[in-house]
Amino acid sequence: MKQDILLLNPILIPTINDKLSETYNVRRYYEQDDKDAYIREFGSAIRGVVTGGHSGIKRSLMEKLPGLKVIAVNGVGIDAVDIEYARSRGIHVTATVGALTDDVADLAIGLLIAVCRGLCTGDRYVRDGQWGISELPLARKFSGMRVGIVGLGRIGRAIATRAAVFGCPIRYTDLHPMADVPYTFVADLKQLASESDALMLAAAADKAEGIINAAVLDALGKKGILVDVARGRLVNEQDLVQALQTGRIAGAGLDVFVDEPRVPTALLGMHNVVLQPHRASATVETRTAMGEMVLTSLAQALAGHRPATSVTT
Ligand code: 8YV
Repeated sequence: MKQDILLLNPILIPTINDKLSETYNVRRYYEQDDKDAYIREFGSAIRGVVTGGHSGIKRSLMEKLPGLKVIAVNGVGIDAVDIEYARSRGIHVTATVGALTDDVADLAIGLLIAVCRGLCTGDRYVRDGQWGISELPLARKFSGMRVGIVGLGRIGRAIATRAAVFGCPIRYTDLHPMADVPYTFVADLKQLASESDALMLAAAADKAEGIINAAVLDALGKKGILVDVARGRLVNEQDLVQALQTGRIAGAGLDVFVDEPRVPTALLGMHNVVLQPHRASATVETRTAMGEMVLTSLAQALAGHRPATSVTT
């Protein structure tokens, strides 16, 4: 008999959706107008949840799913899941570790180049018929920039590898120095910012809320660029808006925000800021690989085994 799973966000890969539907009764929570009534009807039957990294699952919803065995996060960040509570109930929480590393690092470098070279501004200039009519200011060279990486996990390392190919000296901060990398460790975030032309955020957000504040942005300085492909809440967004408005930093490339999908209005008119709608892992190839990992985690957990990527058990 098919078991019931609750899908909190749409999965955009048809083959993954087909496989989910072939194997499970898929309850599409995000399609429901009256979500409470839906959970009253199906909550007790739900054995697995599939959700996104950013959205996770509220503890109040977990509490309404008494038979829940696994939360398969279709992403690498598990900061939006109450891990301690899941552990206390023996619920596996899994993530798509490794599947999206390349894509996220690619976008981080893409955002930095886009900010430096004014790619969006140039694109608008051509489309608006301004070429030959007005002058565009010169852009900024990316190759050779001093890159500072906040969080040298898988994604931070992949950003470093790419930036190194562009001749960028790499410094990083993390909880401790890492012996297996050729990059310079800087313990203090403010010092790292002051020694970087570009600060790239690749840290987990669970214990690092608001670490990028006015003091760090001032240390990054007038020529500094901030790139965030991790979580919006690593940044004090008000401080960031002010630093950009007053020219205390040079620009930003942002894929993530504090209150998605809401983006601070002030950012929308800034030509030194490149914005993306939390899309770092959104390629067909990567979302397919992530979907396959979600399917594997569900299958392992619902067959009574420990999923390979479980962080709770
Ligand atoms: C995904 C993310 O876009 O991996 C994460 O933690 O936030 C994103 O890469 C998201 O999980 C999509 O479901």
